[in-house]
Amino acid sequence: MLIPKPREEPEHPKHNKRHQNTTKRVGLTRKARAGNRVGSGCPQEVARPNKAGLHKTGCKEGDSVLGRPPLMLTLRDVTKTFNARTLFGGANMTVNYAERVALVGPNGAGKSTLFSLILKEDEPDAGEVIRDEWTTLGYLPQESEPVGDETILDVATGKAGEMERLEKILREHEERGDVSAPEYNEAHSKHDALNDPQAEAKCKKILKGFGFKEEDFNKPAREYSGGWVMRAHLARLLVIEPDLLLLDEPTNHLDLLSLMWFRNYLKNYPGAILLISHDRDFMDELIETVYEIEESKLVQYQGNYSEYLKQKEENWDRAYQAWKNQQKEIEAMQEFIERFRSVASKASQAQSRERQLEKMEKLDRPRPLRKAFRFNFPQPQRSGQRVIALTDIHQAYGEKKIYQGLDLEIEKGERTVLVGPNGAGKSTLIKIMAGEVAFQKGERRFGTNVKMGYFSQHRADTLEPELTILEELKRCAPELREDDARSILGSFLFKREDVYKKCKVLSGGEKSRLNLVKFLVDPPNLLLMDEPTTHLDIWAIEGLILALQKFEGTLVFISHDVHFIRSLATKVLHINAGTVTPYSGGYDYYLEKTGAEENARAAVIAQ
Ligand SMILES: Nc1ncnc2c1ncn2[C@@H]1O[C@H](COP(=O)(O)OP(=O)(O)OP(=O)(O)O)[C@@H](O)[C@H]1O
Ligand SMILES: [Mg+2]
Repeated sequence: MLIPKPREEPEHPKHNKRHQNTTKRVGLTRKARAGNRVGSGCPQEVARPNKAGLHKTGCKEGDSVLGRPPLMLTLRDVTKTFNARTLFGGANMTVNYAERVALVGPNGAGKSTLFSLILKEDEPDAGEVIRDEWTTLGYLPQESEPVGDETILDVATGKAGEMERLEKILREHEERGDVSAPEYNEAHSKHDALNDPQAEAKCKKILKGFGFKEEDFNKPAREYSGGWVMRAHLARLLVIEPDLLLLDEPTNHLDLLSLMWFRNYLKNYPGAILLISHDRDFMDELIETVYEIEESKLVQYQGNYSEYLKQKEENWDRAYQAWKNQQKEIEAMQEFIERFRSVASKASQAQSRERQLEKMEKLDRPRPLRKAFRFNFPQPQRSGQRVIALTDIHQAYGEKKIYQGLDLEIEKGERTVLVGPNGAGKSTLIKIMAGEVAFQKGERRFGTNVKMGYFSQHRADTLEPELTILEELKRCAPELREDDARSILGSFLFKREDVYKKCKVLSGGEKSRLNLVKFLVDPPNLLLMDEPTTHLDIWAIEGLILALQKFEGTLVFISHDVHFIRSLATKVLHINAGTVTPYSGGYDYYLEKTGAEENARAAVIAQ
């Protein structure tokens, strides 16, 4: 392994400050950090403005006088366009030390694209992205890269991939003698963090928080689903503890317990966090500033997610009231003009009103606030009363026994949710029903007229990257006429020329929506759905809830979205250590009866 040279102290005074600060900041509470922040004005020695009137750190002239800290990240007047569609124009944003900022907006709005601009993977069409070059950055992408033979612990400690990458950067800089560059400093500090003797212990603790067990650590990562690999990547980021964490929908694949653990962990995180999320509860606990991409604009709101929603409603009410008042005023002026235009004594007054009306800056009628959209898909053929029966099922993965003698029946019209801790066998059970995993003993029987469809948890590679949306839909429903295909795509918000987009450029949520269309275009009467809301925005989730509430078939599903479960489940199956306990009521009934919520909270607090 490469042992990097001890770092020379770079000349940039900010660098020294950052390192003192990092060590100081670790382990501090939010309050203490906030205290730290107040005093950390832009240091005088950095207060040398460059040509644009900005310091190297991005703070404006005078900030140090006001005692404001230097900025980690500034977006100034940034515009990004894809094929004549402007994702956002004139966007401004700042992120400061220890700030918790959320970036929200509907699927396809451009959130992940904005991250790629911050990461300098892509360029804006106009404007600038200014990053404090001494800020170390950690990034969790929306979708995880495929993994190979490395173990879970290797992924999390960076022994696979990351260490090698960092060492390459260090070596190249050292060979060039360029060891005071910010990139060298960044690689060095990340390398230090992963090389720390405590790193492995810290990593294991974090992995456990994310639901891994001791016996998972040395297993190859490729045996785990994308969601679990994502957790291992996330663990690595938390060990490195970069100054600025960029997280693109980190909660998508977390179950309830790890979600609570992660939220608590981030609350005490010493650096700044910029988070893309559709999870309201998660953001409410953590976030202090929200930026929203809406109608190609980036708008800032102070407060957490609920406060943002409130302000948005209030802004809309105000804009609507202002527009209505102006309409009344316009009507009154027009009436006056009509009435007195030909009355000699008042004609000049009428003319002057006319000019006034022409000059008046007209307000636009505010567009209605976004609502859940309506999914249109046909109802399936009816099935018999008993839909599926499992009898005396025995299932094991190698040595690991999951079910021993499981009996289960699902009846027509039920909407059953499977709940239980990680690794309890929820996905396995749904796969047994779907015929996707073999069981060693027992019987699976369908009732009369049952047509089953399985919507799997991992759908990343179910779309052909080079096909367009329309071609992809036709591939799975060749009978469908073009205008019917377009109409169903339209009801899932793929309008007009959108249908000619290639699958490879779709955003996470757009991919999820297309998978739903493919699944529901000719719906089976038994839907088996594993995490159907992953990547969907709140409006799409709401739309899916409305559609599934009207669905006349039978639904068995797994979800980590409490609102989704609550709105749909009529029956709960709790799965733990191979035992399935049914609760014939909704989610709240199950929580009340078992005290599950309190137990989960207690478990998180005890860690
Ligand atoms: N290379 C590209 N060419 C054309 N369009 C693209 C390209 N990359 C992305 N897009 C489009 O830009 C839009 C924004 O994509 P982006 O991934 O930033 O959305 P997002 O806000 O992250 O959405 P989600 O919530 O679904 O993750 C999408 O409509 C996507 O299809
Ligand atoms: Mg995205």
